[in-house]
Amino acid sequence: MERSVTAMVATGVTLFLSIFVLVSAGDSSAADLTGDSNIRRQSLDGGLCAQIIRPSGYPCSEHTIQTKDGYLLGLQRVSARGGDVRVQPGPPVLLQHGLFMGGDAWFLNSEEQSLGFILANHGFDVWIGNVRGTRWSHGHASLSEKDKEFWDWSWQELALYDLAEMIHYVNLVTSSKIFVVGHSQGTIMALAAFTQPDIVEMVEAAALLCPISYLGHVSAQFVRRMVSVHLDQMILAMGVHQLNFRSDVCVHILDSLCDGHVDCDNLLASITGENCCFNNSRVDFYLEYEPHPSSSKNLNHLFQMIRKGTFAKYDYGTWKNLKKYGQSKPPVFDLNSIPKSLPFWMGYGGNDALADTTDFQRTLMELQSKPELLYLENYGHIDFLLSVQAKQDIYDNMIEFFRSWGKFSDLK
Ligand SMILES: *[C@@H]1O[C@H](CO)[C@@H](O)[C@H](O)[C@H]1NC(C)=O
Repeated sequence: MERSVTAMVATGVTLFLSIFVLVSAGDSSAADLTGDSNIRRQSLDGGLCAQIIRPSGYPCSEHTIQTKDGYLLGLQRVSARGGDVRVQPGPPVLLQHGLFMGGDAWFLNSEEQSLGFILANHGFDVWIGNVRGTRWSHGHASLSEKDKEFWDWSWQELALYDLAEMIHYVNLVTSSKIFVVGHSQGTIMALAAFTQPDIVEMVEAAALLCPISYLGHVSAQFVRRMVSVHLDQMILAMGVHQLNFRSDVCVHILDSLCDGHVDCDNLLASITGENCCFNNSRVDFYLEYEPHPSSSKNLNHLFQMIRKGTFAKYDYGTWKNLKKYGQSKPPVFDLNSIPKSLPFWMGYGGNDALADTTDFQRTLMELQSKPELLYLENYGHIDFLLSVQAKQDIYDNMIEFFRSWGKFSDLK
């Protein structure tokens, strides 16, 4: 039982469960969720480089950049073992993690299985993105994490400020167009960002794992139930702005709930889809890093998309929309405005209950360019990151795609 609990935490799905229980148990101490004293702080000193990447023998440097709205983001730059990032770096590739994850997501399996290591081994100049609020980022120029304003954002800001700034920075440092890889929420961010001409012009090509833009057909039962009871609005009404599942309250509730009341083995599948291929023996290790915090407003925005079937900016309601956007409905992100000249590669799974095939087909229809597609029938949402066969099943194919677009001769 212990293992299945940790598996869920590792993939961030505890969100739905613990909040649901918290709400239904009528616990009024919402502040406990975010109170600093309750957060299980780990010693993640020295950042991601020092924690996972350098100990494996890979050169790694930490970078801090500031977004237009003041957030301080951590970026890591990784190169091949025994290599030196300053000497003839290969083509730059930026990896953008998904919801409740951080840049560590690309390094959680062995060197032969994890995309971050694999790309470095192939000679890529690997850059790891970390969005605001994650434990690899560094707060805000003037706000504290205790301020509710610190958590006043959704994936819209992650796309238009965080990803935009990262792409800009890597582009500037390397004087090169870059490859972008996203998983899950990282693909929402990428697609939204690519509708902006000033961002997309810095991108050579993009590879999307579990591509998401429309969410109207999410089939995960548990998610649909949470959406229909308006869990996202409840959380906000309770005054909870930061979603942090390392709090004692959440962990305790989850532990007791999974101790007999709920079938936690099936719960993971009922949220992400059945995952075929991740390594159950590594769950404790995954848990040392996942999940990372996100904002309640972000969950609210994602649930709006599920309810309305739109790929649009955050909906504040008619009057505030008029004030913010000058129109009663939030402006949509127009996939058709992404230039036809931007090459895409996309990997998607038959058992992915979040990136549903119907929604994905709509994404494909609206894009001008014809992406190269890789379909894996037995893959679920998490397999694209953590499958023990990810290299053979997915990443080799992705790297072939990059090779076909890069003007780079020194790739292995
Ligand atoms: C699964 O993880 C364990 C513990 O890290 C490791 O010893 C084992 O080799 C892994 N299995 C596969 C197939 O990668």
